[in-house]
Amino acid sequence: MRLATRVTELLGIRYPIVQAPMAGGFTPPRLVAAVSEAGALGSFAAALLPPEEILAGVAEIRALTDEPFGVNLFAPQPAPALDPGRATAVQAALRAVREELGLPEPEPPSPPGWTFETQLQAVVEARPPVFSFTLGLPPLESVRDAGATMLGSATTVAEAVELERAGVDAVVVQAAEAGGHRGTFLGSFEGSLVGALALLPQIADAVALPLVAAGGIMDGRGIAAALALGAEGVQLGTAFLGCPESGASDLYRDALARAKDDGTVVSPVVTGRHARWLRTPIVDRLAELEPLPFPLQGALLMDIRRAAGEQGRDDLSLLMAGQAAGLVRRLPAAELVETLVRETDETIRRLSG
Ligand SMILES: Cc1cc2nc3c(=O)[nH]c(=O)nc-3n(C[C@H](O)[C@H](O)[C@H](O)COP(=O)(O)O)c2cc1C
Repeated sequence: MRLATRVTELLGIRYPIVQAPMAGGFTPPRLVAAVSEAGALGSFAAALLPPEEILAGVAEIRALTDEPFGVNLFAPQPAPALDPGRATAVQAALRAVREELGLPEPEPPSPPGWTFETQLQAVVEARPPVFSFTLGLPPLESVRDAGATMLGSATTVAEAVELERAGVDAVVVQAAEAGGHRGTFLGSFEGSLVGALALLPQIADAVALPLVAAGGIMDGRGIAAALALGAEGVQLGTAFLGCPESGASDLYRDALARAKDDGTVVSPVVTGRHARWLRTPIVDRLAELEPLPFPLQGALLMDIRRAAGEQGRDDLSLLMAGQAAGLVRRLPAAELVETLVRETDETIRRLSG
């Protein structure tokens, strides 16, 4: 595929394809390395990891590949205030679910033993070739000085302009279709749910930086469309959950494969921040819940997420996914990258007649 773009050049990769970082253990070093070895960019999600695990993860990736890879963090968020009244109400609402899973009521969540600053120090020490971030705009001087290429995530034109001003090297354009947390950091979550067809050309007109399209891209048709809309690279999350090297369970992969086009929903009830989830029965059951602020709600639900997975309870599973989840394929990472490249090539050829 002749697909040299500013993104392939910037990231030092063969194909303009990025495997999205997916926090929660879904992008382990073996996946990241397999993707990078295949000529795309593997990304290690480090947002929920303590500094020592970030360093260990990067060392493991380096032991598996000499190719470029990325490390990803969440921008620092305002310190959440734990309102004991709200916590009691949430615990009460979750009681029936815990009973079904045979779980005791947990203690209110306590903050983790690390901070964004200590995570960032670990990234600087690990010196990954690429640093990406979402959910805001972190301080970038130290990673820039460490020589990393920087990718920031935007969900609107205003956010992309802000990232360009801050000096990132490329913008990941997270469209409404995307699985996982909305990266929105300016404006409202509802207003920032802009589909890729509308969002990419408007951001392409507003910033000079190369764009990486994310959201709902599962095959070569999606990649060719994103390139046509002004992107010079693509970032796929849900598609890579189908790979055996990912950290997704069989239950997760089966649920993705069964998903219909209307089978996901954007909701704050699971983590306290808007994210796109598979619409499992528990997501509907919790729909009216007023969650604790991010990330406390997610911490509070952690025992339920774990137990639902262990007990094979589809109905109680909390699984992030993009709107095109049903197109997921269970291919090894290298084969998926190869297939995506071939399909993109075929689509572009078909269009150019
Ligand atoms: C399970 C899951 C976890 C995610 N975690 C992260 C993360 O830690 N950091 C990040 O920048 N994006 C994260 N994302 C969002 C992706 O970067 C990307 O925007 C999204 O996967 C694109 O949509 P798609 O899933 O339809 O391909 C996550 C997505 C999923 C599905």
